Amino acid sequence: MPGAIHAEGLVKTFGDVRALDGVDLDVPEGTVLGLLGPNGAGKTTTVRCLTTLLRPDSGTATVAGIDVIKHPDAVRRSVGLSGQFAAVDEYLTGRENLQMVGQLYQMRAREAKRRAAELLEQFHLVEAADRPAKTYSGGMRRRLDLAAALVVRPPVMFMDEPTTGLDPRNRQQLWGVIKQLVSGGTTLLLTTQYLEEADHLAHEICVVDHGRVIARGTSDQLKARTGGERVEVVVHERAHITAAAEILSGFGKGEATVEEHTRKLTVPVTGGAKLLAEIIRELDARGIEMDDVGLRRPTLDDVFLSLTGHTAEETTEESAAGDTEAGRRTKETAK
Ligand SMILES: Nc1ncnc2c1ncn2[C@@H]1O[C@H](COP(=O)(O)OP(=O)(O)OP(=O)(O)O)[C@@H](O)[C@H]1O
Ligand SMILES: [Mg+2]
Repeated sequence: MPGAIHAEGLVKTFGDVRALDGVDLDVPEGTVLGLLGPNGAGKTTTVRCLTTLLRPDSGTATVAGIDVIKHPDAVRRSVGLSGQFAAVDEYLTGRENLQMVGQLYQMRAREAKRRAAELLEQFHLVEAADRPAKTYSGGMRRRLDLAAALVVRPPVMFMDEPTTGLDPRNRQQLWGVIKQLVSGGTTLLLTTQYLEEADHLAHEICVVDHGRVIARGTSDQLKARTGGERVEVVVHERAHITAAAEILSGFGKGEATVEEHTRKLTVPVTGGAKLLAEIIRELDARGIEMDDVGLRRPTLDDVFLSLTGHTAEETTEESAAGDTEAGRRTKETAK
């Protein structure tokens, strides 16, 4: 049985940009799918197609069992969307924004009022509730946008980078709200650049790149596929880097890599804690003082890096500089 969100072979082109190149997704009811991918991978385009804001060139999709191409109006009634770019009315207050959404969805005025008050509380916006949204900070605006998406408690939610720009406390708090929603049966597709967020919230993760799903699985499955424990050592003295690198390379299953400015050496290993102990003994015997040493298991960042050739952060920084590996690859394939 198809899930609450189901897509097959979604294709969307903009001129000669193939934003989606055959996206397949399935999100079982009451679960969270995390969509990860570098800038320009097609995450927002996927969300826009599934929420009927864009019509795909080909492919099929259903949301809450409803065909998004044949019955867009019915789909719109069943989904909540919080976008990458907040869609609040600048001139209305926070409270008015939320009440307006309720009324658009045909709530009774009293019910819309009650729901607005509840959400203002939940999103820490009580003090600013009666100020126009144009006076809100970036994080407050984002929280208001998320609250607006939750007014009618839709069975299926889409959140495009919900916590971008939120401080750590508000991010954690939003994670709590999301968990609560999902435990109440809501199905959620969320995109994020914070891999920790996907790790924390998503039952399943899809990594997209160049408009295609290039990997999917639980966070643990993806980490296991990437494989690779590593030993990391920070030596106390710069002069010891070369000797330490030789020792690590001897124990590791590959060459040690060196980060000169932090005096950090990293080597891929198999053998876990036992090998770590041997490495420490050897470094010690050779009089190499260590500031830090540890066994590091792969993180979702490592998964992302090995799949897309980038960490999520690098992608953002480098694409701002207009010279990314992914960009170069795109140009090459385009040739
Ligand atoms: N309306 C549009 N017109 C032309 N090109 C578009 C349009 N919308 C998206 N694109 C292109 O489609 C590709 C996918 O864009 P999309 O916004 O889906 O990426 P994304 O994964 O959401 O990236 P980000 O992490 O930066 O939000 C990009 O190359 C983008 O430039
Ligand atoms: Mg986007």
